[in-house]
Amino acid sequence: MKRNLIITGGAGFIGSHVVRLFVNKYPEYRILNLDKLTYAGNLANLKDVEDRPNYTFVKGDICDYESVRDLVRENRIDGIIHLAAESHVDRSIKDPFTFARTNVLGTLSLLQAAKDFWQPLGYRVDGVPCRFYHISTDEVYGALELTRPEGEAPYGDDFFTEETKYNPHSPYSAAKASSDHFVRAFHDTYGMPTIVTNCSNNYGPYQFPEKLIPLFVNNIRNRKPLPVYGKGENVRDWLYVEDHARAIDLIFHEGKVAETYNIGGFNEWKNIDIVRTLIRVTDRLLGRAEGEDDDLITFVTDRAGHDLRYAIDSTKLSRELGWKPSLQFEEGIEKTVRWYLENQEWLDQVTSGDYQKYYEQMYRNR
Ligand code: NAD
Ligand code: DAU
Repeated sequence: MKRNLIITGGAGFIGSHVVRLFVNKYPEYRILNLDKLTYAGNLANLKDVEDRPNYTFVKGDICDYESVRDLVRENRIDGIIHLAAESHVDRSIKDPFTFARTNVLGTLSLLQAAKDFWQPLGYRVDGVPCRFYHISTDEVYGALELTRPEGEAPYGDDFFTEETKYNPHSPYSAAKASSDHFVRAFHDTYGMPTIVTNCSNNYGPYQFPEKLIPLFVNNIRNRKPLPVYGKGENVRDWLYVEDHARAIDLIFHEGKVAETYNIGGFNEWKNIDIVRTLIRVTDRLLGRAEGEDDDLITFVTDRAGHDLRYAIDSTKLSRELGWKPSLQFEEGIEKTVRWYLENQEWLDQVTSGDYQKYYEQMYRNR
């Protein structure tokens, strides 16, 4: 089947993996990557697919309702996979307005643009049923108790399920929660065929080095301090990014309209244990003695409102659609550290800001 899709935020971390998967797997689709190229957007993430005939990059802001409306109409878009967002919790604490604008108003503007084109057509474009697929986070559910802090994971008795009540704590998660509500409201009010998924922490190549894993690998390599918030006891549930992208592909094509699916790998880690693992793996890959860089660990003031524990129950997704993660964490973390060490140029570009010249250069050269 031919389809015309918009993937928003495709120049970011997860979006670039989703775009790559779709461009490679579905040559018969036309894929438009709509991205504003904020500090987090980097076209170098998609160098390997940028010249493919089924792929087009569109520089644009999801908040610009009129441009998005025209883009949807002119390209007879039948599906939207929405990843564009401000995504870093620490930035949201400093600048909550930007998060409300992009994550809430940006999502609303996309929904409205899609509705304008789709509703009069009965939510079918040229015979293809429409889909608005919104990518959200486990952080909307709030924080779980740490009832078993010692020993092996799981570190508590409860998990986030699709029925867990929303209880966001940071401006980031509050904005994401609000956007999820708008998506569901568009289904309930206008019949928009929506799907929402809530995923746990992703890791892997092309993640902006403000997030824990790439930041710490880069710092270990450069022997810079590793700022662990609080006592490092907070727990996150980690999933390899390509497994998230595979889940998105499966759910976009086979998920049920109006449903929510949680995505996660039952893979809880305390931050301090992740940090020690990163040091061990990075040291070994750099030919240093394993643990040589343990003294870089620096406990710093905790993040305000820091959620204690996230743990996703993704049973529904496995049971109903047969998804399961493909990589064990040990394998995924080794692959990830190796990628950052072998892609020093990418890391240097994003840490210096040079990557933002890539787009200008790319278009000047055409
Ligand atoms: P990211 O910060 O790496 O990328 C975000 C992308 O969105 C960038 O390319 C940026 O340029 C683009 N963007 C930002 N504002 C825009 C705007 N106004 N218009 C158009 N494009 C804009 O984010 P990520 O970590 O890849 O996360 C992607 C999505 O997945 C987000 O919605 C996030 O909430 C969600 N999510 C992330 C994780 C995670 O661990 N990273 C986990 C669960 C869910
Ligand atoms: O759970 C999904 C979420 O995961 C996504 O929705 C977010 O977009 C994504 O950024 C991520 O949020 P976190 O806040 O969990 O990720 P981050 O990498 O910023 O931090 C992971 C943990 O490490 C968290 O407990 C805070 C801690 N941390 C982070 C940084 C950057 C530190 O201790 N030191 C640091 O310098």
